[in-house]
Amino acid sequence: MKKTLIKHIKTLYQVESEPREKVAGKDMATLPLIEDAYLAIEGDTIVDFGPMTDLHGVTDWNDLDVIDADGKMVLPAWCDSHTHIVFARTREGEFVDRIKGLSYQDIAAKGGGILNSAKRLRDTSEEDLFQSAMQRVKEMVRTGTGAIEVKSGYGLTVESELKMLRVAKRLKEEAPVAIKSTFLGAHAIPAEYKDNRKGYIDLIVNEMIPAVAEEGLAEYIDIFCEQGYFTNEETDRVLEAGAKYGMIPKIHVNQFSNTGGVQTGIKHNARTVDHLEEMGKDEIDALLKSNTMPVSLPSCSFFLSIPYTPAREIIDAGLPLAIATDYNPGSTPSGNIPFLLSLACIKQKLTPEEAINAVTLNGAYAMGLEKTHGSIAVGKKANLIITKEMDDIALIPYAFGSEHIDQTILNGQIQ
Ligand code: NIG
Ligand code: FE
Repeated sequence: MKKTLIKHIKTLYQVESEPREKVAGKDMATLPLIEDAYLAIEGDTIVDFGPMTDLHGVTDWNDLDVIDADGKMVLPAWCDSHTHIVFARTREGEFVDRIKGLSYQDIAAKGGGILNSAKRLRDTSEEDLFQSAMQRVKEMVRTGTGAIEVKSGYGLTVESELKMLRVAKRLKEEAPVAIKSTFLGAHAIPAEYKDNRKGYIDLIVNEMIPAVAEEGLAEYIDIFCEQGYFTNEETDRVLEAGAKYGMIPKIHVNQFSNTGGVQTGIKHNARTVDHLEEMGKDEIDALLKSNTMPVSLPSCSFFLSIPYTPAREIIDAGLPLAIATDYNPGSTPSGNIPFLLSLACIKQKLTPEEAINAVTLNGAYAMGLEKTHGSIAVGKKANLIITKEMDDIALIPYAFGSEHIDQTILNGQIQ
């Protein structure tokens, strides 16, 4: 089995001797670390790490690849728990429309937005969708991402939703990153059901969910619970139907309005509630009484010029927080986590340590990967970032737009 030793690491971050499933509240301000460290990999797994002064044993290995990380930091690869990276084409026309004054909702009302993507996706082959999604994965790997959640939701017919999820399944088999998939048939009411919402929900409940389950294509179920999209009652119905097939909710709520979506998600034991640009104290109190993790998507706020999730209040209340990209053609055409870290620090007033916790261990928890990803622990996947030489980890969010990553290692392999 291939063995690799990374030695003389200036600082090794997010180390763990006791397994943690997530980090919350004040603990988010700390990234456990070891200065002047080594880390040993066997196959695709972290097998040992510690201070250089303790390095013995592994040096006797034969065929050992050695990486000298002098002056560099090592971190777990980022875990991006919310994306829509399977799509047919970009929507830069809508971007220009927004510059000229239209809102996201105005564009959707004209048949743009999600329905625009759905129209194009139906005419695109599974192979072409796979190739373009794989390119996006490779682009994300270059900025340090090692695990990605992928949603359907641009199909909006039984066949096209299955087509998207089969692409996600093939990514799981062929991409170097860990992939989790989510069924999001309830992303928008398709044009052909414009006057028959109930008919579309029936289709989701009676046909899509059973077909997705039959092929084992999704572990999670999502819905866009929002004015103009799906109501709380419709959310109840879709999530109950998914639960019958073991699909766990991870849902879009409170993006443009506060209609009680957070509480609905909690009621259904959602793993995560995502977006949360519009929320108040009641939502924070409800989350405190639950196991549901709040997820913020700051590059969506940046791109659409909408408010940022009150991340500071969420953490100060003692809650955990995950941050994800939301990579999609409409509201966030970017899968760049280092840029998210800058937004989290600059716009949401998180410290660099809090922001990094939000995209490593908490990102892993947000997609059920906390036992294998998101931290440096013996037995976890060797999914790592080796930075360029730097004096302080705060440089990553500080020097926004610069390239800070020297190498990404996924499953023990340099990418
Ligand atoms: O998370 N809010 C709903 N879904 C996506 C946007 C989808 C689109 O515009 O294509 C989001 O922002
Ligand atoms: Fe989204």
